[in-house]
Amino acid sequence: MRSLRSGFSLASALTGLATLGALLAGATAPARAADAPLRDLAAAKGKIIGSAVNPAKLTGTYGDIAGREFNSVTPDNAMKWESVEPSRGTFNWAPADQVVAFATAHGQQVRGHTLVWHSQNPGWLANGTWTPAQLSTVLQDHITAEVGRYKGRIAAWDVVNEAFNEDGTYRSSIWSNGLGQDYIANALTWARAADPGAKLYINDYNVEGVNAKSTALYNLVRSLKERGVPIDGVGLQAHLILGQVPSSLQQNIQRFADLGVDVAITELDVRMQLPSTAAKLTQQAADYKAVMDACVAVSRCTGVTVWGFTDSDSWVPDVFDGYGAATPYDESFTPKPAYRALAGSLGGGTTEPPGDGCTAVYSVVNQWNSGFTGQVRISCSGGALSSWRAGWTFGAGQRITQSWNANCTQSGTAVTCSNASYNGTVPDGSSVTFGFNGSWSGSNPVPVVTLS
Ligand code: G3I
Repeated sequence: MRSLRSGFSLASALTGLATLGALLAGATAPARAADAPLRDLAAAKGKIIGSAVNPAKLTGTYGDIAGREFNSVTPDNAMKWESVEPSRGTFNWAPADQVVAFATAHGQQVRGHTLVWHSQNPGWLANGTWTPAQLSTVLQDHITAEVGRYKGRIAAWDVVNEAFNEDGTYRSSIWSNGLGQDYIANALTWARAADPGAKLYINDYNVEGVNAKSTALYNLVRSLKERGVPIDGVGLQAHLILGQVPSSLQQNIQRFADLGVDVAITELDVRMQLPSTAAKLTQQAADYKAVMDACVAVSRCTGVTVWGFTDSDSWVPDVFDGYGAATPYDESFTPKPAYRALAGSLGGGTTEPPGDGCTAVYSVVNQWNSGFTGQVRISCSGGALSSWRAGWTFGAGQRITQSWNANCTQSGTAVTCSNASYNGTVPDGSSVTFGFNGSWSGSNPVPVVTLS
């Protein structure tokens, strides 16, 4: 029998009964479940675990992992200016829409990336000749169009990306050259107007530790707060090099938090010189753990997003000659020690996932004003079930109103769903799904499901 990680006492009490039932029914093997997906572990700690995703790849194994392991996704390139507005006034929303639809189907948040950047701007913008007034209008129109299109569906926007040089001076760009430093305050103000519910961030790299660049960012955020400019958070990209997690990372996160803003690790990867070796992968796991540990230690750190979850989909080898293997999964989608380090830091076990046993994944399939449809998929790989119970705690007052393919009861916030007469058996390599309708108000967070 597997051990339960959550404090769901009813499920705990029922574990023994379920196993006894399985034995009486002549089950071939006791149920064993693998470690919970990262998103369940993160949700239990109130944290985000996200990944940058490429919308063209969101099917098959890539899509399965993206949906199962992460509670947030960031489009890697699909929301950048050159992607959404390749010619002036002509918008291509399709790839960005795909990411948002995927996130909705999997009960995930979306992190919007990015509205104002010196890079990946379309030729008509980058090579145009603009008066300050014209450039300001172009920027406002772009922000209004993009943020407005996704109003209510983006949890957080990287509004301004990479505004600083390494020495803490403002980067020379079409924006700072044409509009002066106030482009930052204006962009934030326009984004707030277009979607008052989205958290607005400034995002940058090499600002993970306390240094000249992060101090410039800190001073900017302090001054924006003092001026009443809408700024909700700071994104620390965290494109790191093996063995070089800044020792001041947690202190740096804390000093931003103390300004009254959230902090997110937005683009974590840890690159190494190829080929990878067991020793390098062990060091990489320690680096991933150090980053997640620092975030877990600061309550205003909302979570960690990795910049691609598989080495087959990482920007690193294209840009850093001879470097790679920077993500938590290898090129064949096998979890690396870094994956287990993230799980461990989030309170999970550190055994090989997802090979052994059975797991349960909760997702919101559809959501409207006051109701939603949810589903739980129980999958077995390397284990099997002859009967099952899935339990969880609703954290925001949700109520189950109807269920199918399972018998669900709710007592207070505790929900228990047991198999129907026809779907208790889940053979190795297969899965069953049950669904339910529920009511919600305020928020509808995804709970951790305990399987027994
Ligand atoms: O779309 C074209 C394609 O038509 C062409 O055939 C191909 C040939 O090289 O290039 C394709 O564009 C590439 C684009 O990604 C889309 O795949 C660009 O060459 C390539 O440079 C671009 O790289 C992106 C990079 O930002 C650009 O700076 C990476 O995928 C993306 O992961 C990376 O993400 C950035 C974050 O936005 C900000 N922080 C740093 C991070 C890593 O650089």
